[in-house]
Amino acid sequence: MRIGIVGTGHVGGTLARLFSRAGHEVAVANSRGPDTLRGFAEEVGDRVRPATAEEAARFGEVVVVSVPVGRYGQLPAAPMAGKTVIDTGNYYPERDGNDPDLDQDRTTSSELLQQHLPEASVVKAFNTMRWEHLGEYGRQSSAQRRYGIPVSGDDVDAKRRVFDLIEQVGFEPVDAGRLAEGRRHQPGTPVYLADLSGAELHSRLGTP
Ligand SMILES: NC(=O)c1ccc[n+]([C@@H]2O[C@H](COP(=O)([O-])OP(=O)(O)OC[C@H]3O[C@@H](n4cnc5c(N)ncnc54)[C@H](OP(=O)(O)O)[C@@H]3O)[C@@H](O)[C@H]2O)c1
Repeated sequence: MRIGIVGTGHVGGTLARLFSRAGHEVAVANSRGPDTLRGFAEEVGDRVRPATAEEAARFGEVVVVSVPVGRYGQLPAAPMAGKTVIDTGNYYPERDGNDPDLDQDRTTSSELLQQHLPEASVVKAFNTMRWEHLGEYGRQSSAQRRYGIPVSGDDVDAKRRVFDLIEQVGFEPVDAGRLAEGRRHQPGTPVYLADLSGAELHSRLGTP
């Protein structure tokens, strides 16, 4: 599959490694331009190419958005229309600036991204685990213990696509419900940064 990654920092860079290792073609972008990602792409291997955000979004059949939540308004919407967009974002007001709707839990950061990308299918995933653990724990999974990744989204087909990608990189996808339910796996919740198995996640989320 072709995957675009918009935001190639700690999390986006880790996902670029995981997805390319799983056999996908990956275009990576940041805010400073492709030249600043050439070294990274060379280090990770042939399946990774540097791009602008616009190009990465156009390239991907699935697009990962992994930028600070305060930057969502800067992202190119047109090339993500009709696509599955994975949102790894977490709202940190000290970094992102205060948003009254988020502060008072009237909405969630993923729903804000969905508003900015009205024709995309936003799925929240890969947001609960520290990037170093994300890079390692999939490979450490065993039949006895597989780490879980909560997933929320409104589009069932888009979610299924994300479930498949999560499985391919060694984790267990855990359906947390609709996009608004992303509030149950955001900072401050009992599953956030908790490194749980799929069964433990289901138990804390109260999902079947
Ligand atoms: N760190 C973690 O362990 C962790 C775990 C789970 C979820 N998260 C969440 O995932 C998101 C990314 O976190 P991170 O730690 O990977 O952040 P990071 O290391 O600071 O990386 C952010 C990336 O976003 C890029 N970016 C910023 N504005 C952009 C724009 N307008 N267009 C394109 N790219 C842009 C940055 O590019 P430049 O460097 O060129 O500016 C950088 O590549 C955040 O919402 C974070 O809260 C983080």
